[in-house]
Amino acid sequence: MLQFLWVIFPYLMITIFIVGHIYRYNVDQLSWTAKSSEFLEKKTLKWGSLFFHIGILLVSVGHIVGLLVPKSLLESFGVSESMYHSGAVYVGGFAGIITLIGILILMNRRLTNKRVRITSDTSDIITLILIFLIIIIGIYNTVIGTRLHPDFDYRETISPWFRGLLTFVPDPSLMRGVPLGFQLHILISFALIGIWPFTRLVHVWSVPLTYFKRRYIIYRKRAG
Ligand code: HEM
Repeated sequence: MLQFLWVIFPYLMITIFIVGHIYRYNVDQLSWTAKSSEFLEKKTLKWGSLFFHIGILLVSVGHIVGLLVPKSLLESFGVSESMYHSGAVYVGGFAGIITLIGILILMNRRLTNKRVRITSDTSDIITLILIFLIIIIGIYNTVIGTRLHPDFDYRETISPWFRGLLTFVPDPSLMRGVPLGFQLHILISFALIGIWPFTRLVHVWSVPLTYFKRRYIIYRKRAG
């Protein structure tokens, strides 16, 4: 079971993620879109989207530090256990709450605004529900889980397991005894990774960064 949950399942989801993107890009590129519904409703989208995207960027930075940077390296830079923990709870908790407010506004909009509701498909609803569950369980883990399990340290269990997964030397035994809330958070995240290429989340890879570099007014030479 340990092997299935913490090696086979994650690699299966990552494989579907990669192959799914290649397939969709080659076969169904016209559907590669964020499917913006801004023209249907603007006001709440503005706030929901702003909160969610700022929040998720901060949460991502927190995950990179907590999961990818080894504890010993941070300690050699003078970041002690208690400093890290305060940062994770206060900064991480703050980022999590911003993301939660955003996703709640977006969920409420999608489910209660008639025009947005009828133009939504099942994948939109499933994506929102999974993101909501991941965020709410993530905040629970940070704020309550770490207090309920004071001896548990995810930087000595989840983080090395995760790095092992990325470097193709996964050690599922590191995940033995990890509290259920953390396990659920990670398994639902991998489920999201597996459905990602078949949802509007593909827009993440098409952020129009060149937009920031372009001129305000584009002059073109008249042909001929
Ligand atoms: C396999 C992927 C993931 C792993 C291994 C993981 C792991 C963790 C861990 C260990 C924590 C506790 C952090 C702490 O208490 O300092 C946490 C918190 C959290 N996670 Fe994740 N996570 C993953 C994916 C995600 C995704 C995809 C999202 C968002 C959709 C997310 C959102 C959150 C939030 C909101 C928190 C609360 C604290 C914060 O804001 O960082 N996680 N996660």
